[in-house]
Amino acid sequence: MPLATRTTRISSSPTMKVTSTVDRLRREGVEVVDFGAGEPDFPTPEQVKAAGHEALDENLTKYTPASGVSELKRAICDRYRADYGVDYKESEIIVTAGGKQALFNAALSLFNPGDEVITHAPYWPSLTEQVKLADATPVLVRTHAEDGFAIHARDMIAAITPRTRGIILNSPCNPTGALISEPDLAAIGDAAARQGIWVVVDLCYERLIYDAVPHNVPRVLGERCRDLTVLCGSASKAYSMTGWRCGWALAPAAVIAACSAIQSHSTSNVSSITQHAAITALTASQAPVREMLDEYRRRRDSLFEWLMADPRLRCRKPAGAFYMFIDISDVLSLDGFRTSNEFAQALLDEARVAVTPGEAFDAPGFIRISYATSMETLREGSTRLLEFVRAHARAA
Ligand SMILES: Cc1ncc(COP(=O)(O)O)c(C=O)c1O
Repeated sequence: MPLATRTTRISSSPTMKVTSTVDRLRREGVEVVDFGAGEPDFPTPEQVKAAGHEALDENLTKYTPASGVSELKRAICDRYRADYGVDYKESEIIVTAGGKQALFNAALSLFNPGDEVITHAPYWPSLTEQVKLADATPVLVRTHAEDGFAIHARDMIAAITPRTRGIILNSPCNPTGALISEPDLAAIGDAAARQGIWVVVDLCYERLIYDAVPHNVPRVLGERCRDLTVLCGSASKAYSMTGWRCGWALAPAAVIAACSAIQSHSTSNVSSITQHAAITALTASQAPVREMLDEYRRRRDSLFEWLMADPRLRCRKPAGAFYMFIDISDVLSLDGFRTSNEFAQALLDEARVAVTPGEAFDAPGFIRISYATSMETLREGSTRLLEFVRAHARAA
């Protein structure tokens, strides 16, 4: 029997495929260095785990309102007020199963069949697949390694047509680690306001920014186009809570009402236990977030130094998130690898190092290395990667 046509428009997550390959190899007893993981390697902070235990002990194990418990919505409002100086009300918040569901709810709530939705490439694949699941069409604006994958407002605005209904931004960006500048964001916000276009921002890595650069996305968009802005955030990366599944959206009340209706008929509420743990994550001391960030910074700096010893591996230091997105085009030309897919496969087969090929992000010629793993693993994996490149260069 034929499946629904929408299933033919999408493919399953290529980043998750790397994870499942590593799992399979490890089950078969193969020792693999995993640079594929898109999640923190740290345990969830103790205070958050304790709140989860407490929720169980207090039998907080029932349905909650589909859009989340009030206390968590207030905690989200308070966090954004403290971090960005913006004011959101409870009616402007929905709690979702990760940032992914916040983005998915937004796509289903905002986009119609035939609408165009602009985003920047390379991109995290779910962003475009979700647009397609809403029967809309993703329109890609290229960003380039030469200027650190900067998102230029002029290029985004030039892609606007009469059919444009939305712009999706991801900052810090997975896979590039780039941040949108406030002036570019403001210009996009102004264009959106003039032309009545939704601006959806994936802020899942908002707490993982290494330097004190201006990056107040909620305030800048709040000033330019608050009525058209949907901010999607997540506890996953900031608090090392990927498995708990907790994210949120902040948006005009009408958008939140539509998202809540969709969610109420699909997944209902986020796990009650998770919600109670997330309250603690957002309201207790934020020291664990800073400690994890400091460790990511040390790893980023070491990995950068090790890998950049080989001039054939080209990359800038990422400004946010925990990925290094490396231009391997010089290596590809060395030894007959036709694609970064082939390179990544050979690296896995020969050196037992798993990386995500650039094709997963619509960026052939690149590989993504996640440094959300221990320093020893980074040392071992980068040694193997450098040796792999050297061996292939010799063979060429
Ligand atoms: C750019 C980006 N957005 C959103 C997510 C969603 O994460 P979660 O649903 O766990 O919040 C991810 C996860 O990898 C991501 O990389």
